[in-house]
Amino acid sequence: MTRILMICLGNICRSPLAEGLLQSKLPNNLFDVDSAGTGAFHIGNSPDPRSIAVARKHGLDISGQKCRQFKVEDFDVFDHIFVMDASNYRDITKLARNQNDVTKVALILDDASSINNTDVPDPYHGGNQDFEKVYHLLDEASDIIVERLL
Ligand code: 4NP
Repeated sequence: MTRILMICLGNICRSPLAEGLLQSKLPNNLFDVDSAGTGAFHIGNSPDPRSIAVARKHGLDISGQKCRQFKVEDFDVFDHIFVMDASNYRDITKLARNQNDVTKVALILDDASSINNTDVPDPYHGGNQDFEKVYHLLDEASDIIVERLL
């Protein structure tokens, strides 16, 4: 089993979409995909209604996910940890205990060649079009991850 963890700040907007998208593209008997937040504000909550809505519009159901916070033991459980932006990268690598932990962490857009920015912009204070943009960035990024992992 290959285990992949998606990280953002709140674990209610971006990483739930990243989790749902990647999970839908990989065989579930071989890959386990989860998500978590660096922050603790929304622990136990469902994804943001705007993330649920944009996913549903594209045929993906993420409504059953529950927010949790990243914990250092996640470095032992997961093989790949994809973060949404540079600030997530700093927060997660700060918790790394050794170089092996650090090498598991990557910016999710780093290998998405057609995308110019390396951060998935935080849509929390934005509108539906910002969530739509995040969906498309993560759709492309997850295709690239699948190509590399399968
Ligand atoms: P996310 O968006 O990191 O994509 O889940 C955010 C959600 C909530 C907050 C910040 C970002 N917040 O400050 O509550």
